[in-house]
Amino acid sequence: TVRMPVLGIETSCDETACAVYDATRGLLAHRLHSQVDLHARYGGVVPELASRDHVARIAPLVRETLAASGIGFGDLDGIAYTAGPGLIGALMVGAAVAAGIASAHGLPLIPVHHMEGHLLAPMLETPAPQFPFTALLVSGGHTMLIAVEGLGRYELLGESLDDAVGEAFDKTAKLLGLPYPGGPHLARLAERGQPDVFRFPRPMTDRPGLDFSFSGLKTAVLVALPRAEGEQARADLARGFEEAVTDTLVIKCGRALVQTGHRTLIVAGGVGANLRLRAKLRALAADKGFTAFFPRAEFCTDNAAMIACAGSARLIEGRKPDGPLFTTPRWPL
Ligand code: KG4
Ligand code: ZN
Repeated sequence: TVRMPVLGIETSCDETACAVYDATRGLLAHRLHSQVDLHARYGGVVPELASRDHVARIAPLVRETLAASGIGFGDLDGIAYTAGPGLIGALMVGAAVAAGIASAHGLPLIPVHHMEGHLLAPMLETPAPQFPFTALLVSGGHTMLIAVEGLGRYELLGESLDDAVGEAFDKTAKLLGLPYPGGPHLARLAERGQPDVFRFPRPMTDRPGLDFSFSGLKTAVLVALPRAEGEQARADLARGFEEAVTDTLVIKCGRALVQTGHRTLIVAGGVGANLRLRAKLRALAADKGFTAFFPRAEFCTDNAAMIACAGSARLIEGRKPDGPLFTTPRWPL
Protein backbone atom coordinates (compact mmCIF):
# COMPACT_ATOMS: atom_id res chain seq x y z
CA THR A 1 0.00 0.00 0.00
CA VAL A 2 1.08 3.55 -0.75
CA ARG A 3 1.34 5.62 2.36
CA MET A 4 3.33 8.69 1.42
CA PRO A 5 2.77 10.79 4.54
CA VAL A 6 2.99 14.46 3.63
CA LEU A 7 3.26 17.48 5.88
CA GLY A 8 1.18 20.38 4.54
CA ILE A 9 1.59 24.06 5.35
CA GLU A 10 -0.93 26.81 4.54
CA THR A 11 -0.18 30.52 5.07
CA SER A 12 -1.75 32.20 2.03
CA CYS A 13 -3.97 34.62 3.92
CA ASP A 14 -5.03 34.91 7.56
CA GLU A 15 -4.85 31.32 8.82
CA THR A 16 -1.64 29.63 9.88
CA ALA A 17 -2.25 25.93 9.38
CA CYS A 18 -0.38 22.63 9.34
CA ALA A 19 -1.48 19.04 8.73
CA VAL A 20 -0.16 15.54 8.11
CA TYR A 21 -1.96 13.39 5.55
CA ASP A 22 -1.21 9.92 4.30
CA ALA A 23 -2.98 8.17 1.42
CA THR A 24 -3.69 5.00 3.40
CA ARG A 25 -4.54 6.28 6.86
CA GLY A 26 -6.02 9.64 5.81
CA LEU A 27 -5.59 12.72 7.93
CA LEU A 28 -3.24 12.03 10.84
CA ALA A 29 -3.33 15.50 12.42
CA HIS A 30 -4.24 19.06 11.61
CA ARG A 31 -3.85 22.34 13.48
CA LEU A 32 -4.93 25.86 12.64
CA HIS A 33 -4.43 29.29 14.13
CA SER A 34 -6.87 31.93 12.89
CA GLN A 35 -5.82 35.58 12.74
CA VAL A 36 -9.43 36.78 12.61
CA ASP A 37 -9.17 38.69 15.92
CA LEU A 38 -5.94 40.35 14.78
CA HIS A 39 -7.54 41.85 11.65
CA ALA A 40 -11.12 42.37 12.89
CA ARG A 41 -10.68 45.99 13.94
CA TYR A 42 -9.34 46.93 10.49
CA GLY A 43 -12.35 45.37 8.72
CA GLY A 44 -10.11 43.25 6.52
CA VAL A 45 -6.80 41.41 6.37
CA VAL A 46 -3.74 43.66 6.83
CA PRO A 47 -1.01 41.87 4.80
CA GLU A 48 1.98 43.00 6.88
CA LEU A 49 0.32 41.95 10.15
CA ALA A 50 -0.61 38.62 8.57
CA SER A 51 3.01 37.88 7.57
CA ARG A 52 4.35 38.77 11.01
CA ASP A 53 1.82 36.62 12.81
CA HIS A 54 2.57 33.65 10.50
CA VAL A 55 6.25 34.04 11.43
CA ALA A 56 5.38 33.99 15.13
CA ARG A 57 3.02 30.99 14.92
CA ILE A 58 4.28 28.61 12.28
CA ALA A 59 7.17 26.79 13.98
CA PRO A 60 5.31 25.83 17.19
CA LEU A 61 2.28 24.87 15.08
CA VAL A 62 4.38 22.50 12.92
CA ARG A 63 5.89 20.88 16.03
CA GLU A 64 2.45 20.52 17.63
CA THR A 65 0.92 19.00 14.48
CA LEU A 66 3.72 16.51 14.04
CA ALA A 67 3.54 15.48 17.71
CA ALA A 68 -0.21 14.91 17.35
CA SER A 69 0.25 12.87 14.14
CA GLY A 70 2.29 10.23 15.94
CA ILE A 71 5.04 10.25 13.29
CA GLY A 72 8.36 12.08 13.07
CA PHE A 73 10.09 14.18 10.39
CA GLY A 74 11.99 11.03 9.39
CA ASP A 75 8.74 9.22 8.50
CA LEU A 76 7.57 11.90 6.06
CA ASP A 77 7.76 11.48 2.27
CA GLY A 78 7.25 15.11 1.30
CA ILE A 79 6.57 18.69 2.39
CA ALA A 80 3.67 20.46 0.67
CA TYR A 81 2.99 24.15 0.99
CA THR A 82 0.64 26.69 -0.55
CA ALA A 83 2.69 28.46 -3.22
CA GLY A 84 -0.14 30.77 -4.38
CA PRO A 85 -2.36 32.51 -5.07
CA GLY A 86 -2.48 34.67 -1.96
CA LEU A 87 -0.71 37.46 -0.08
CA ILE A 88 2.92 37.29 -1.18
CA GLY A 89 4.46 38.06 2.23
CA ALA A 90 2.21 35.51 3.93
CA LEU A 91 2.95 32.86 1.29
CA MET A 92 6.70 33.42 1.69
CA VAL A 93 6.55 32.45 5.37
CA GLY A 94 5.02 29.03 4.70
CA ALA A 95 7.27 28.46 1.67
CA ALA A 96 10.44 29.30 3.61
CA VAL A 97 9.50 27.01 6.50
CA ALA A 98 8.56 24.20 4.10
CA ALA A 99 11.82 24.63 2.17
CA GLY A 100 13.80 24.60 5.43
CA ILE A 101 12.21 21.36 6.64
CA ALA A 102 12.55 19.74 3.21
CA SER A 103 16.20 20.65 2.99
CA ALA A 104 17.01 19.58 6.57
CA HIS A 105 15.40 16.17 6.10
CA GLY A 106 16.17 15.60 2.41
CA LEU A 107 12.50 15.52 1.42
CA PRO A 108 10.81 16.63 -1.81
CA LEU A 109 9.18 20.04 -1.71
CA ILE A 110 5.69 20.13 -3.25
CA PRO A 111 4.24 23.55 -4.20
CA VAL A 112 0.44 23.38 -4.10
CA HIS A 113 -2.06 25.69 -5.76
CA HIS A 114 -4.37 26.99 -3.02
CA MET A 115 -7.46 26.49 -5.18
CA GLU A 116 -6.44 22.93 -6.06
CA GLY A 117 -6.31 22.40 -2.30
CA HIS A 118 -9.90 23.65 -2.01
CA LEU A 119 -10.92 21.53 -5.03
CA LEU A 120 -9.56 18.33 -3.49
CA ALA A 121 -10.82 19.03 0.06
CA PRO A 122 -13.83 16.69 -0.43
CA MET A 123 -11.26 13.87 -0.80
CA LEU A 124 -10.68 14.21 2.95
CA GLU A 125 -14.15 12.78 3.58
CA THR A 126 -15.26 9.13 3.53
CA PRO A 127 -16.45 8.04 1.07
CA ALA A 128 -14.43 10.36 -1.15
CA PRO A 129 -16.03 11.49 -4.42
CA GLN A 130 -14.78 9.81 -7.60
CA PHE A 131 -13.52 11.69 -10.67
CA PRO A 132 -14.97 13.13 -12.82
CA PHE A 133 -17.02 15.77 -11.05
CA THR A 134 -18.14 19.36 -11.37
CA ALA A 135 -16.91 21.71 -8.66
CA LEU A 136 -18.39 24.92 -7.33
CA LEU A 137 -15.51 26.85 -5.77
CA VAL A 138 -16.77 29.72 -3.66
CA SER A 139 -14.41 31.66 -1.42
CA GLY A 140 -13.53 35.21 -0.42
CA GLY A 141 -11.48 35.67 -3.57
CA HIS A 142 -12.98 33.25 -6.10
CA THR A 143 -16.28 32.13 -7.58
CA MET A 144 -15.74 29.41 -10.15
CA LEU A 145 -17.41 26.43 -11.72
CA ILE A 146 -14.82 23.87 -12.77
CA ALA A 147 -15.03 20.56 -14.63
CA VAL A 148 -12.64 18.20 -12.83
CA GLU A 149 -11.77 15.23 -15.05
CA GLY A 150 -8.90 14.03 -12.87
CA LEU A 151 -5.95 15.26 -10.84
CA GLY A 152 -4.62 18.38 -12.55
CA ARG A 153 -7.24 18.18 -15.31
CA TYR A 154 -9.38 21.20 -14.62
CA GLU A 155 -11.51 23.15 -17.05
CA LEU A 156 -12.92 26.51 -16.02
CA LEU A 157 -16.62 26.60 -16.97
CA GLY A 158 -17.52 29.97 -15.50
CA GLU A 159 -16.41 32.54 -12.96
CA SER A 160 -17.37 35.85 -11.42
CA LEU A 161 -16.85 38.83 -13.69
CA ASP A 162 -16.55 41.13 -10.65
CA ASP A 163 -16.87 40.45 -6.89
CA ALA A 164 -16.33 36.95 -5.53
CA VAL A 165 -19.36 35.56 -3.72
CA GLY A 166 -17.58 35.58 -0.32
CA GLU A 167 -16.65 39.20 -0.96
CA ALA A 168 -20.33 39.99 -1.65
CA PHE A 169 -21.26 38.33 1.66
CA ASP A 170 -18.55 40.28 3.49
CA LYS A 171 -19.43 43.65 1.92
CA THR A 172 -23.16 43.20 2.58
CA ALA A 173 -22.40 42.19 6.16
CA LYS A 174 -20.31 45.34 6.54
CA LEU A 175 -23.25 47.47 5.31
CA LEU A 176 -25.33 45.80 8.02
CA GLY A 177 -22.71 46.72 10.60
CA LEU A 178 -21.64 43.11 11.22
CA PRO A 179 -18.05 42.26 12.22
CA TYR A 180 -15.42 41.00 9.77
CA PRO A 181 -15.40 38.46 8.17
CA GLY A 182 -19.09 38.97 7.68
CA GLY A 183 -20.23 35.82 5.80
CA PRO A 184 -20.92 33.61 8.83
CA HIS A 185 -22.38 36.55 10.82
CA LEU A 186 -24.73 37.44 7.97
CA ALA A 187 -25.81 33.79 7.68
CA ARG A 188 -26.61 33.72 11.40
CA LEU A 189 -28.64 36.96 11.17
CA ALA A 190 -30.49 35.62 8.11
CA GLU A 191 -31.76 32.63 10.12
CA ARG A 192 -34.14 34.98 11.95
CA GLY A 193 -35.27 36.74 8.74
CA GLN A 194 -38.18 36.20 6.34
CA PRO A 195 -37.24 35.18 2.79
CA ASP A 196 -39.65 37.42 0.84
CA VAL A 197 -39.61 40.81 2.57
CA PHE A 198 -36.62 41.96 0.52
CA ARG A 199 -36.49 40.60 -3.03
CA PHE A 200 -33.07 40.96 -4.69
CA PRO A 201 -32.09 40.08 -8.29
CA ARG A 202 -30.58 36.69 -9.24
CA PRO A 203 -27.84 38.22 -11.44
CA MET A 204 -27.15 36.75 -14.89
CA THR A 205 -29.58 33.85 -14.49
CA ASP A 206 -31.93 35.12 -17.22
CA ARG A 207 -29.38 34.45 -19.98
CA PRO A 208 -27.34 31.38 -20.89
CA GLY A 209 -23.82 30.88 -19.61
CA LEU A 210 -22.03 29.99 -16.39
CA ASP A 211 -20.43 33.29 -15.39
CA PHE A 212 -21.46 35.23 -12.31
CA SER A 213 -21.71 38.87 -11.29
CA PHE A 214 -22.26 39.92 -7.68
CA SER A 215 -21.36 43.62 -7.59
CA GLY A 216 -24.89 44.68 -8.60
CA LEU A 217 -26.38 42.79 -5.66
CA LYS A 218 -24.26 44.84 -3.29
CA THR A 219 -25.69 48.01 -4.85
CA ALA A 220 -29.23 46.63 -4.53
CA VAL A 221 -28.57 46.04 -0.83
CA LEU A 222 -27.23 49.57 -0.45
CA VAL A 223 -30.41 50.98 -2.02
CA ALA A 224 -32.63 48.81 0.23
CA LEU A 225 -30.69 49.62 3.40
CA PRO A 226 -32.78 52.64 4.52
CA ARG A 227 -35.84 50.31 4.60
CA ALA A 228 -34.02 47.96 6.99
CA GLU A 229 -34.69 49.82 10.26
CA GLY A 230 -34.74 47.64 13.36
CA GLU A 231 -33.54 44.15 14.18
CA GLN A 232 -36.25 42.19 12.33
CA ALA A 233 -35.88 44.23 9.13
CA ARG A 234 -32.10 43.77 9.20
CA ALA A 235 -32.59 40.02 9.54
CA ASP A 236 -35.11 40.11 6.65
CA LEU A 237 -32.60 41.96 4.47
CA ALA A 238 -29.83 39.49 5.32
CA ARG A 239 -32.19 36.63 4.47
CA GLY A 240 -33.25 38.24 1.18
CA PHE A 241 -29.61 38.66 0.20
CA GLU A 242 -28.72 35.08 1.16
CA GLU A 243 -31.71 33.75 -0.81
CA ALA A 244 -30.65 35.70 -3.93
CA VAL A 245 -27.03 34.56 -3.75
CA THR A 246 -27.76 30.91 -3.04
CA ASP A 247 -30.51 30.74 -5.72
CA THR A 248 -28.05 32.17 -8.24
CA LEU A 249 -25.35 29.65 -7.33
CA VAL A 250 -27.80 26.75 -7.42
CA ILE A 251 -29.22 27.70 -10.85
CA LYS A 252 -25.69 27.82 -12.31
CA CYS A 253 -24.68 24.52 -10.68
CA GLY A 254 -27.69 22.84 -12.27
CA ARG A 255 -26.74 24.27 -15.64
CA ALA A 256 -23.09 23.25 -15.26
CA LEU A 257 -24.06 19.63 -14.53
CA VAL A 258 -26.23 19.52 -17.66
CA GLN A 259 -23.28 20.87 -19.68
CA THR A 260 -20.63 18.47 -18.27
CA GLY A 261 -22.90 15.45 -17.95
CA HIS A 262 -21.23 14.71 -14.59
CA ARG A 263 -23.26 12.93 -11.92
CA THR A 264 -21.35 14.46 -8.99
CA LEU A 265 -21.16 18.03 -7.73
CA ILE A 266 -18.63 19.03 -5.11
CA VAL A 267 -18.68 22.32 -3.25
CA ALA A 268 -15.52 23.87 -1.87
CA GLY A 269 -14.25 27.13 -0.41
CA GLY A 270 -15.38 29.18 2.59
CA VAL A 271 -18.89 29.97 1.29
CA GLY A 272 -19.41 26.22 0.97
CA ALA A 273 -19.89 26.29 4.74
CA ASN A 274 -23.17 28.17 4.18
CA LEU A 275 -26.01 25.94 5.38
CA ARG A 276 -28.70 27.40 3.12
CA LEU A 277 -26.51 26.81 0.06
CA ARG A 278 -25.96 23.22 1.19
CA ALA A 279 -29.66 22.60 1.77
CA LYS A 280 -30.61 23.99 -1.67
CA LEU A 281 -27.94 21.97 -3.47
CA ARG A 282 -29.03 18.80 -1.62
CA ALA A 283 -32.63 19.46 -2.74
CA LEU A 284 -31.48 20.01 -6.35
CA ALA A 285 -29.40 16.81 -6.20
CA ALA A 286 -32.38 14.80 -4.95
CA ASP A 287 -34.57 16.32 -7.67
CA LYS A 288 -32.13 15.82 -10.57
CA GLY A 289 -30.58 12.56 -9.39
CA PHE A 290 -26.96 13.60 -8.88
CA THR A 291 -24.77 13.40 -5.79
CA ALA A 292 -23.73 16.51 -3.89
CA PHE A 293 -20.51 16.31 -1.84
CA PHE A 294 -19.52 18.82 0.80
CA PRO A 295 -16.34 18.88 2.85
CA ARG A 296 -17.04 19.45 6.56
CA ALA A 297 -17.20 23.20 7.30
CA GLU A 298 -13.68 23.40 8.77
CA PHE A 299 -12.26 22.02 5.49
CA CYS A 300 -14.33 24.47 3.40
CA THR A 301 -12.52 27.47 4.84
CA ASP A 302 -8.72 27.74 4.59
CA ASN A 303 -6.85 24.86 6.20
CA ALA A 304 -3.72 22.76 5.73
CA ALA A 305 -5.45 19.37 5.57
CA MET A 306 -6.45 20.14 1.97
CA ILE A 307 -2.87 21.21 1.13
CA ALA A 308 -1.37 18.03 2.61
CA CYS A 309 -4.02 15.96 0.80
CA ALA A 310 -3.36 17.66 -2.58
CA GLY A 311 0.40 17.37 -1.95
CA SER A 312 0.08 13.65 -1.26
CA ALA A 313 -1.95 13.11 -4.46
CA ARG A 314 0.69 14.99 -6.46
CA LEU A 315 3.51 13.03 -4.84
CA ILE A 316 1.87 9.68 -5.55
CA GLU A 317 1.24 10.71 -9.14
CA GLY A 318 4.92 11.62 -9.34
CA ARG A 319 4.18 14.89 -11.00
CA LYS A 320 4.56 18.35 -9.55
CA PRO A 321 1.93 20.92 -10.50
CA ASP A 322 2.90 23.18 -13.36
CA GLY A 323 3.66 26.43 -11.69
CA PRO A 324 6.21 28.50 -9.93
CA LEU A 325 9.00 26.92 -7.93
CA PHE A 326 8.52 29.21 -5.02
CA THR A 327 5.61 31.58 -4.43
CA THR A 328 3.36 33.73 -6.55
CA PRO A 329 0.51 36.09 -5.64
CA ARG A 330 -1.30 35.35 -8.94
CA TRP A 331 -1.51 31.91 -10.48
CA PRO A 332 -4.28 30.67 -12.78
CA LEU A 333 -5.53 27.19 -11.84
O1 KG4 B 1 -11.97 29.84 1.46
P1 KG4 B 1 -11.93 30.92 2.49
O2 KG4 B 1 -11.74 30.53 3.93
O3 KG4 B 1 -10.80 31.95 2.20
C1 KG4 B 1 -10.45 32.34 0.92
O4 KG4 B 1 -9.58 31.66 0.32
O5 KG4 B 1 -11.06 33.34 0.47
O6 KG4 B 1 -13.31 31.76 2.31
C2 KG4 B 1 -13.60 32.84 3.14
C3 KG4 B 1 -14.94 33.42 2.72
C4 KG4 B 1 -15.26 34.75 3.43
O7 KG4 B 1 -15.73 35.67 2.47
C5 KG4 B 1 -16.35 34.35 4.42
O8 KG4 B 1 -17.20 35.41 4.75
C6 KG4 B 1 -17.06 33.26 3.67
O9 KG4 B 1 -16.02 32.53 3.05
N1 KG4 B 1 -17.87 32.39 4.54
C7 KG4 B 1 -19.23 32.30 4.50
C8 KG4 B 1 -19.62 31.38 5.50
N2 KG4 B 1 -18.48 30.94 6.14
C9 KG4 B 1 -17.42 31.56 5.52
N3 KG4 B 1 -20.11 32.91 3.69
C10 KG4 B 1 -21.41 32.60 3.88
N4 KG4 B 1 -21.87 31.75 4.82
C11 KG4 B 1 -21.03 31.12 5.65
N5 KG4 B 1 -21.48 30.27 6.58
ZN1 ZN C 1 -9.16 29.72 0.44
